[in-house]
Amino acid sequence: MNEPYYKAYEKRYQAVFSAGAERWGHSPDDEVLYNTLKSWVEENNLQGKSIIEYACGEGACGVILSELGCIYHGVDISPSAIEKSKKLLQAYPNATVDVFDMVKESAAEKYDAALDCMGFHMLVTDNDRNCYLKNAYDSLKENAPMLFFRESYRQNGTYQGVVHTLAEWEQITGEDYKTLQLRQVRNSDEGGIVEVLVPLLPARAKDKTGYVEEFENIGFDVEKFIEMDSSTAIPHSASIYVRKIKR
Ligand SMILES: C[S@@+](CC[C@H](N)C(=O)[O-])C[C@H]1O[C@@H](n2cnc3c(N)ncnc32)[C@H](O)[C@@H]1O
Repeated sequence: MNEPYYKAYEKRYQAVFSAGAERWGHSPDDEVLYNTLKSWVEENNLQGKSIIEYACGEGACGVILSELGCIYHGVDISPSAIEKSKKLLQAYPNATVDVFDMVKESAAEKYDAALDCMGFHMLVTDNDRNCYLKNAYDSLKENAPMLFFRESYRQNGTYQGVVHTLAEWEQITGEDYKTLQLRQVRNSDEGGIVEVLVPLLPARAKDKTGYVEEFENIGFDVEKFIEMDSSTAIPHSASIYVRKIKR
């Protein structure tokens, strides 16, 4: 059976960890991430409340949200990332993580808030994006906030049509998702740099209208759309603050 394209991240994590790198994704020390989450938690009174993080990766946001006093549940489809995040979050008794497909599965309980940090843009077909947003919406209590942090964004020129398959997306973008590319990753233990050979992974940027339309179609109210400064994580991105309102 064909594996969904979004499972390809597992191979990247394996390549990164076996090269001796500490992590691929966000670090809990990312200042912009920390400050954004701190303000979001404070503005929404999320201290002591339950937060589900979709596509949690190696657990950076789990550390930050646990330090901020939240009850954290991180989910990700890549077992290697979940193993890593489990180790990182050992010190926090209110933090749990699980392997979980956010496109195909819905959470068993309702949360006070949800977070997605560079996860949504990894989904390229309209159907996968829509299924995930519905699952995320259903996992929230009434009026609960959700934050999409650093999602791939362009001011204009994004593809406006429907994408049915990864093959179609490859044709539209002309991107090569197979050839291995040399990438440099920090090895935080020794402060050095290690090199890994990994392919580009599919991702889909949207413009503001595109994002707002997707969120509103599900029933989210879009409260804030912030263009982010370029960072080592991603050059062009936006953070989008939404809230579950009654459908
Ligand atoms: C760009 S990484 C971001 C990881 C982490 N949030 C961070 O910022 O460091 C995208 C993550 O999405 C996860 N992912 C992709 N598709 C997924 C799915 N269907 N269900 C759950 N996680 C998924 C990948 O395994 C990967 O960890």
